[in-house]
Amino acid sequence: MKGGGSEAAKRRAGESAAEAVEDGMVVGLGTGSTAAHAIRKLGRRVDAGLDIEGIPTSFQARERASEAGIPLTTLSEATPDLAIDGADQVAGGHLVKGGGAAHTREKLVDAASDRLLVVVDPSKLADALDHPVPLAVLPDARRPVADAVREQGGEPDLRRAERKDGPVVTDEGHLVLDCDFGAVDDPAGRSRALSAVPGVVEHGLFVGMADEIHVGDGDGVTVHTPGTE
Ligand code: A5P
Repeated sequence: MKGGGSEAAKRRAGESAAEAVEDGMVVGLGTGSTAAHAIRKLGRRVDAGLDIEGIPTSFQARERASEAGIPLTTLSEATPDLAIDGADQVAGGHLVKGGGAAHTREKLVDAASDRLLVVVDPSKLADALDHPVPLAVLPDARRPVADAVREQGGEPDLRRAERKDGPVVTDEGHLVLDCDFGAVDDPAGRSRALSAVPGVVEHGLFVGMADEIHVGDGDGVTVHTPGTE
């Protein structure tokens, strides 16, 4: 199972965050198996009368939201009051995302939201970020971006598709380079350095963006509020 966490823990985390959604809100809908539990819970709440609109962060999130019966809107028409999204690794208020190759639109929606609620199981928690950082890159930029990553001390690896010959291509038509920097001691500095590389559309470091981390486990949910602990 992706991330190694139990489905029950993911469900508790996702449903906990979905409980924070109130009538009239516009909600950013994250990508991944944990955020999927939040989408399904919101769908049940909509069935019960909750009046919300969702802004999906990926093709997959859009499909899940449609199946759940959540009315949808876009960033052109509305600003999210909160977003609920998963993560591949969490350290403090910083995240690595992009395991589902959706981090470009995830960052767009999550950053536009007044609040970001991150939903994870305990396997995602770390003392420091050392998960490879996904870069969405323009296809023509693959080689120069890989060279720039090596100059920054990282080891880039083109993400390969599992049921297609060749690379993963994102919803927006980009390739993904998973870049291993070891422990990222300065997430803000690394974020700036990666954003400055021509051809990098977006990277998977989400620095200081999380307002709450909902961690589901075998018993319940613990909510962390980074910056106040
Ligand atoms: C998608 O690109 C990622 O950022 C996901 O949010 C992340 O991979 C979490 O997915 P899971 O909840 O399935 O682990």
